[in-house]
Amino acid sequence: MQFFIDTANLDQIREANELGILDGVTTNPSLMAKEGIKGRASILKHYVDICEIVDGPVSAEVLSTDYEGMIAEAHELAGLHKNIVVKIPMIKDGIKAIRYLTDNGIPTNCTLVFSAGQALLAAKAGATYVSPFIGRIDDTSNDGLQLIEQIVNIYRYHGFETQVLAASIRNVNHIVKCAELGADVITSPLPSILGLLYHPLTDLGMAKFIEDTRKMEL
Ligand code: E4P
Repeated sequence: MQFFIDTANLDQIREANELGILDGVTTNPSLMAKEGIKGRASILKHYVDICEIVDGPVSAEVLSTDYEGMIAEAHELAGLHKNIVVKIPMIKDGIKAIRYLTDNGIPTNCTLVFSAGQALLAAKAGATYVSPFIGRIDDTSNDGLQLIEQIVNIYRYHGFETQVLAASIRNVNHIVKCAELGADVITSPLPSILGLLYHPLTDLGMAKFIEDTRKMEL
């Protein structure tokens, strides 16, 4: 399973990359706005900056909502760096755009996916990745992980090559369960990735080892 970080914050991307476990990055317009990025030129430069930190797929989202606009943006984004994956929303024009981009060799990530039916359409259109938002589903008192299981099963049964990229990760349990369920990728904020490090018995064990190391008077 691949690990992507879900942020546009360059320091956090560097920190995760330095761990040696990072495979890629996802961003979205909200995450870009949070970093105070303004204007087209700054947006494009920021994607290049991310690509220079991480040697793996970097999802850059189109801001247009119509087919022609998405295609024009997709070409501009894909031209920035070889690792750019164009993120396209799950809307009617988005599905058309994914089909066009797939046919023209541009990788895509179909975002804002909340149902198995949407995931099926994304796969039929040839999306490279599909992004079900599990945390936001949990927020509505439904089970986001159940959707991951459903999509993984459908894709496996029919041999779709679209990779299941579990998004809107909120905690360590989401990551571990996605691994169990066979998601191809998780994209997570840095705290949940770092949360995988912790176990109270590790802390207790380390404290004891450090105490006993002192006794050896190295
Ligand atoms: C996915 O690519 C999205 O950027 C992201 O996972 C959304 O997560 P959120 O629900 O925490 O905003």
